[in-house]
Amino acid sequence: MANATAGVVSLHGTGMCAGARDMVRLGTVRCCYRARRWDPVTCAAPSGSVTEDVVSKPRRLPRVVGMGSKLIACGSAVPKFEISNDDLAKIVETSDEWISVRTGIRKRRVLTGEESLKGLAVAAGKKALAMAQVEPDEIDLVILCTSTPNDLFGTGAQVHTALGCKNAWAFDATAACSGFLVGLVTATRFIKGGGYQNVLVIGADCLSRHVDWTDRGTCILFGDGAGAVLVQATAAEDDGFLGFDIHSDGQGYRHLNAKTSEGGTEEVISNTNGSTNFPPKKPAFSFIQMNGKEVFRFAVRCVPQSIEASLEEAALTSSNIDWLLLHQANRRIIDAVATRLQIPAEKVISNLANYGNTSAASIPLALDEAVRGGKVKGGDIIAASGFGAGLTWGSAIMRWQ
Ligand code: UT7
Repeated sequence: MANATAGVVSLHGTGMCAGARDMVRLGTVRCCYRARRWDPVTCAAPSGSVTEDVVSKPRRLPRVVGMGSKLIACGSAVPKFEISNDDLAKIVETSDEWISVRTGIRKRRVLTGEESLKGLAVAAGKKALAMAQVEPDEIDLVILCTSTPNDLFGTGAQVHTALGCKNAWAFDATAACSGFLVGLVTATRFIKGGGYQNVLVIGADCLSRHVDWTDRGTCILFGDGAGAVLVQATAAEDDGFLGFDIHSDGQGYRHLNAKTSEGGTEEVISNTNGSTNFPPKKPAFSFIQMNGKEVFRFAVRCVPQSIEASLEEAALTSSNIDWLLLHQANRRIIDAVATRLQIPAEKVISNLANYGNTSAASIPLALDEAVRGGKVKGGDIIAASGFGAGLTWGSAIMRWQ
C-alpha cells in the first residue's frame, strides 16, 4: 500500500491534510487524501521522516489498496405517465390476467412529452445527494448506467453538469439490465484503488423507446425509470461492499438484443475507389428481440450461482441475507431464485408490479422505495443481482449504510 507505514501518512505528501472528512483510519495507518487531485498538497511530515518536504506531483497518489466503500444514500425518479395492463390490452392481444400471472407486472411508467432520460437521472441523483447531505461539488465521479442515452456518445457528462458536480467527471456504462451492478462494482474499484471519495452511480433507462408496441411478447414487460446510489469511501474495516461476482457471455446475445443494421451502404457512388461499402449507412437499432424462455432459463440458472459466489467471497451464507434485491424482470424469476437460495418471501424486495422491467434502473429504484419505506435499515445485508442482454449477469453482497 502506498505510504502504508505506521504513523500519520498523507497519500499526497505527508502529515496534515485538508478536511476531517478526507481523513480515514486504515488500521493503524491514518491516511489522508483529497477528493480534488489536481492541486498538490504539502503536508508536514514527522521530523526526520524520509518523506519530509516532499511535495506531491499533481496526480492521484492515494491508490489506497484496501480502502472500503459503503452505500450511504439513494434516490429515484419515474415518468408521470402510467400504463396499466388493461391499457395494453387495448393495443395488443393480451390481458391483465396473462401479464400479471406470467410476470407479476400490473403497470409501468413511460417517458412522454418534455420528460427525458437525462431529466430522470438528474432527479434521482439529486435525491440521493439530498439524502446523503453531500454537496454536488464533493462528488468525484458520476457513472450513468444506461443502454438508452439521449446521445450516441453518452449522457453521463450532461447529467453530472446538470447536477452541479463541477469537480466530477462522468461516463456512461452500458450493460443492459446488469448495468447498475457493473456501475456499482466500478464505483467501488475507483474508491478502493483510485482514492475517490464520493461516486454517484445512476441507473436510468427508457426501453419504452426500443420496444415494438405491437409485439405482445416484449411490450408488456418494460417501463422507464431511474435510480441512484451514493457510494462513499470508508475505512477498510468498515467496508460495506462485501463480495461481488460478474460475468458476460456473447454467445447468449442471440436471445436478447436490439441490433444495429451493420454493413449497410448508401447507394453506391462511383468515385469511392471501387468500394461497395462506402459511404456507410447510418445504423438504426432494431426493436428489442427476446427469446423469453431462454432468458428465463438463463436467469434462473445463473443468478443463484452468482449470488452463491458473492456470498462465498463475503464469507457469508444465504441465512445472513436480510434482503434479496434482484433485477425486476419477472416475479417468477425472483421467486425461483429466492426458493433456490432458501430466502423467505418476506426478505424479498420487489416493486415490479408497479414499474415493470426498468433495466439498469430497476435495482436502485426498488432499493430507494425499500429504504424510504422503512424496510431496509442501516446495517442490513443486501444481496443484489442483475442479469440481461449481452448476456451479462452478476451480483453483489453489500451492507446498507
Ligand atoms: O431484463 C431482461 C431479462 N428478461 C427477462 O427476464 C424475460 C424472461 N422471460 C420471461 O419473463 C417470460 O418468458 C415471458 C414473460 C416473456 C413470457 O412468459 P412465458 O411463460 O415464457 O410465455 P411464452 O413465451 O412461452 O408464451 C406462452 C403463450 C404463447 O402462446 P401459445 O404458443 O402457447 O399459444 C404466447 O404466444 O403465451 C402467449 N403470449 C401471450 N399471451 C397473452 C405471449 N405473450 C403474451 C401476452 N399476452 N402478452
